[in-house]
Amino acid sequence: MKHNQRTQILTVLALAATTLTAQPKLNSSNVEQVIAAMTTEEKIDLLIGCGMAMGEEVKFPGTAGRTRDIPRLGIQSAYLADGPHRLHMTRTREWDSKTYITTEIPSETNVAASFDQDAAYQLGKVIGEEVRDFGLDVLLAPGVNLMRSALCGRNNEYYSEDPVLAGKIAAGFIRGIQSKGSGTCLKHFAINNQETNRNNNDSRLSQRALRELYLKNFEIAVKESNPWSIMTSYNRAQGLYTCENVELTETILRDEWGWDGLVMSDWNAGKDAVASIKAGNDMLQPGQPRQREALLKAAQDGTLSMELIDRSVRRTLEFVLKCHTPNGYVYPNETDLKAHAEAVRKFGAESMVLLKNEPVKGGAVAALPFAADNVKGIALYGCTSYDMVPAAMGFGGTNVGPYIVSLVEAARKAGIKPDMSLAKTYKQHIADENKKNYPDGMPPFSITAPLRAGEWVPQADVLAENVKNNDVAVITLGRTSGEGADRKREHFFLTDLEKDMIHAVAEAYHQAGKPVILVLNVCGPVETAPVAAEVDAILCAFEPGQECGNSVMDVLTGKVNPSGRLPMTWQVAYGDAPADQNFPADYVFDMSAFRRAFSGGSAKDAAERAQRQAEPVEVKDVDYTVYAEDIYIGYRYFDTYQKPVSFPFGFGLSYTTFDYEIVSSAIDGDKCQMEVKVTNTGKVAGREVVQLYVRAPKGRLDKPSKELKAFGKTRSLKPGDSETVKLTWNTMDMASFDEKASAWVLDKGIYTWMVAASSADVRATATQRVAKARVEKVHNVMAPKQKIVRSTMLSKK
Ligand code: BGC
Repeated sequence: MKHNQRTQILTVLALAATTLTAQPKLNSSNVEQVIAAMTTEEKIDLLIGCGMAMGEEVKFPGTAGRTRDIPRLGIQSAYLADGPHRLHMTRTREWDSKTYITTEIPSETNVAASFDQDAAYQLGKVIGEEVRDFGLDVLLAPGVNLMRSALCGRNNEYYSEDPVLAGKIAAGFIRGIQSKGSGTCLKHFAINNQETNRNNNDSRLSQRALRELYLKNFEIAVKESNPWSIMTSYNRAQGLYTCENVELTETILRDEWGWDGLVMSDWNAGKDAVASIKAGNDMLQPGQPRQREALLKAAQDGTLSMELIDRSVRRTLEFVLKCHTPNGYVYPNETDLKAHAEAVRKFGAESMVLLKNEPVKGGAVAALPFAADNVKGIALYGCTSYDMVPAAMGFGGTNVGPYIVSLVEAARKAGIKPDMSLAKTYKQHIADENKKNYPDGMPPFSITAPLRAGEWVPQADVLAENVKNNDVAVITLGRTSGEGADRKREHFFLTDLEKDMIHAVAEAYHQAGKPVILVLNVCGPVETAPVAAEVDAILCAFEPGQECGNSVMDVLTGKVNPSGRLPMTWQVAYGDAPADQNFPADYVFDMSAFRRAFSGGSAKDAAERAQRQAEPVEVKDVDYTVYAEDIYIGYRYFDTYQKPVSFPFGFGLSYTTFDYEIVSSAIDGDKCQMEVKVTNTGKVAGREVVQLYVRAPKGRLDKPSKELKAFGKTRSLKPGDSETVKLTWNTMDMASFDEKASAWVLDKGIYTWMVAASSADVRATATQRVAKARVEKVHNVMAPKQKIVRSTMLSKK
């Protein structure tokens, strides 16, 4: 018998056998039966992804990937796409003429700045609906890592320096997405706070900082919103890749927090596929042949037990079963872009933070808001006024949404005439700058963090003409950043050209008694000290999404009363925070450093790797980062050590004023509660954010002077109206982590509860006595392998 005849007969026999033994088709009641019917190869296939969805033949080009389908057993794929700012996929596809437009929503930082869980929920609903409407299943978002350094390139994809704010806002966003039946993937778990050498950097920190800060944000989000999945991070922590650390993904996440979803790796993270599955990192994305081989071999030789393989297979099947695709959802392939744009404009405006608002020298009325009717002309300065930054760069947030509303467009729509001679000058200037900076053409996006185009400083004669024709000057400064690279010091500080431009504009307009407004369209804090006194108002817009110009104009004209608060401290200078001493500021990221973690790369990379292995040199803050500031990041440092800041955490002005009154406060067993009556004492309607900080009594451990435990936001209150905001938190949230005892310890004594308008503006206090100390033991896991020596900046209080 010829070889191919034999093969044909065998195939027919195999198929016959397959039809005789009934094949289960996956549904929610037969998961165990399906697992029993799977071959080892099929199981392994399910544990690794199907590669990136970039090619022409894939269903959703430009999305991040999918889980493996096994049609024989009715197992379908779950389709995964990036967020958080936008459902990320290509605008066009090879096989049709349709344009696939998705909405660019406000950055995570903006969402946090709203201090409003409901805003997060509403924006989650927008993006959850788009995921569903375009046939996808899971948004790879939100990112919840803490802003340890002002320069982390990915801070725009994160919420805050504070774990309570980050965790609660993430929970709102997750619930919003999941309310549409779409899935979420909370990322990057954990202690992933820099982009430099992100695939290999080892975060080294105390168990206390780990528990109180870097895991707390995840714990809150997990417990309050139950995300479908969690993505481990690229970095190592305490020496191990997070995707290979059983203590992180099993002991803490599952045993202690009681969560039972799917854990997937970040894209091409880690080294050892077998260690990942053993650690409970169930799925390796986007999946590589070497990982498949390693898993198969380990399954065959028994180094990876079938029990562990089945554990991850089970979690994957349960995850897939929740998705739209396997449930046969027929998607419309279009979405309600109009309604979504309205939500972006509204929440974009509500997330803006008014940092300063004073009358022009000699005047009586604050510069903002200006009534559109009174402004016959508006002069827009700064390249960013004409080239706004709606979102960050990189995979997680692109600036290639459907459109970007500029300030010129927004002003015209608001009935204010922008100075078109200035607009013309800027158009030419930006084109010239782009030609100079990008001689080969503008990149669609770049993972470096360039400054926006170099500024143009108007001459006195131009300014004199502008002042004559306009009633107000608005200067916009921009900064952006993205995945893969950290910001540099120069992105924090203002450039000389920027300072010169602000100075020239301010001087000219002030001489004529006309106001100068500074708008900061930035991915994170920038220096403000050298120019703050020169302008009358400062509005921080962060990166508010595609309606950028409209949202800013709504605040400038008073259509929206700003109610955003800073989700991070604005330090005066880079270097002021202790974490700055242990951050790779200005490190030049070279590709071979990035590839050190991999076996691939060029011959030069391989040679360098070999040399490094022969004489390993660990570069501080690049190969490893010691979190020497311990628990003192952000306001925990500046407030406790009484160091000056430009603007404190939680700060933000309003066009009205509010009074606070504590109505009740009580500890009732495991729960704490406080009711605060907020009254609008000003002249216009507005919303107020109420922040609740706690100072714990002295105990064995040192403690920050205050820590945020809860926050709330009123509805829009008319002048004279009041609302009682109810704040609740767990009694054990006021405990500190004692690593000697591996326990949360709530010291007995007096706790001061502070109701505040920012971390530096306490409006009312109440005290509560805890009569008996409480201790809650947890596992002694994720201990640092080296002694963590605290920063010298923490020596004097
Ligand atoms: C990012 C993740 C992202 C993934 C898939 C990685 O580079 O770190 O946040 O979800 O790519 O695109």
